[in-house]
Amino acid sequence: MTEVFDQLGEAGITALIAAFYRRVRVDDLIGPMYPADDWEGSEARLRDFLIYRCGGPTRYIEERGHPRLRMRHFPFSIGEAERDRWLALMAAAMDETSVPEPSREILAGFFAQTADFMRNREG
Ligand code: HEM
Repeated sequence: MTEVFDQLGEAGITALIAAFYRRVRVDDLIGPMYPADDWEGSEARLRDFLIYRCGGPTRYIEERGHPRLRMRHFPFSIGEAERDRWLALMAAAMDETSVPEPSREILAGFFAQTADFMRNREG
């Protein structure tokens, strides 16, 4: 994942996550799961997580500690439809911000694997 950080930098990852949240905010399926009064916070958490995960600055760890992502998603009911919607919105955000190869392929694989791991109910 360090090649992703080298290629996109903080600016590219910030633009990607902003494009993703513009879609999440108005999404009928997963939008309502997010705290409606803290969109900036949600956006910052995912952005800082991805920057850290790609080998950039570790703000996420300093502010949130160990990610424990599966545990942090337990409060939300995530099945196949929610997983697929999250991935579709992220794919659209990668299109919009023209994420270049090889970052696109590396991120798509990482997102697909992580999103599937977040499922916590059947169907
Ligand atoms: C599978 C579908 C997914 C759904 C429906 C979902 C939904 C959510 C929701 C509702 C939150 C709470 C918003 C907040 O206050 O931060 C959240 C947090 C978060 N999600 Fe997801 N998520 C999904 C997949 C993913 C994936 C694939 C990743 C990573 C690649 C991810 C990373 C995060 C992170 C880093 C946070 C903030 C955790 C924290 O520090 O509290 N999520 N997610």
